[in-house]
Amino acid sequence: MRASPAQQAIHLVLLGPPGCGKSTIAPPLAGRHHLLIIATGQQLRAEVERGTALGRAAAPYLEGGELVPDDLINQLMRDQLGALAPSQGLLLDGYPRTVWQARALDELLADVGRALDAVIDLELAPEETLRRLSGRRICEHAGEPFPLHIDDHEAVARCHALGGSIVQRDDDQPEVVRQRLEVYHHETEPLIAFYRERGLLRPVDASGSPAEVTRRVENMLSYR
Ligand code: AP5
Repeated sequence: MRASPAQQAIHLVLLGPPGCGKSTIAPPLAGRHHLLIIATGQQLRAEVERGTALGRAAAPYLEGGELVPDDLINQLMRDQLGALAPSQGLLLDGYPRTVWQARALDELLADVGRALDAVIDLELAPEETLRRLSGRRICEHAGEPFPLHIDDHEAVARCHALGGSIVQRDDDQPEVVRQRLEVYHHETEPLIAFYRERGLLRPVDASGSPAEVTRRVENMLSYR
């Protein structure tokens, strides 16, 4: 029997600490596998920027490096999943972040006839995580903003060529970074065991260049 487009589409979660490179590898993976990226952090920052009710409710949590309450995230996810085309798969960047959200995700996906295929756990030594976060800047231009590292001269030049400006995220200040790492450890790390028990966890070494990390993920997907 021929599979329907929704059955062929893949549904992935990118898991890993702040700064491990989730948003850097999401676009090439999404491009190759026809995936809708839902990046909750990016969505929330856009809501704050636009001054919406959700943005106003979420702003203090983002500023303090705390998780935005689950009910707000659930609503955001429900709205975003409505944009999923039948032939399209899904790449979740920064969601779920708690076991409660992981259970809610199962229900949200079931409601649209989908299910998770794999959770990619990007593993990175804490000192490299900190190096990446402390040098992270965002290129803001007419299209989608993208992260770059201040030491990556090629990416900096690409941003300038787009007429973009290079800014630092407010939550990349050292004291907020410390809090985000703490929150990751307490709230999000338990998802590693949660998804391992369900046979969905796929650990991937996140050291090396973005191209190398993307290639490792591609290899993992080809043996899925
Ligand atoms: P969010 O924006 O999701 O932040 P995060 O998970 O902390 O992840 P980051 O964006 O910091 O890092 P990343 O892994 O994407 O790394 P990147 O690719 O940028 O969330 C922000 C906030 O929103 C949260 O604190 C919370 O308040 C709220 N929120 C979001 N989702 C939520 C949810 N589900 N529930 C509740 N609250 C939620 O890379 C980092 C740097 O490293 C860059 O400079 C990049 O150029 C560089 N780099 C990347 N890969 C490489 C590489 N391979 N080699 C060298 N440099 C690299």
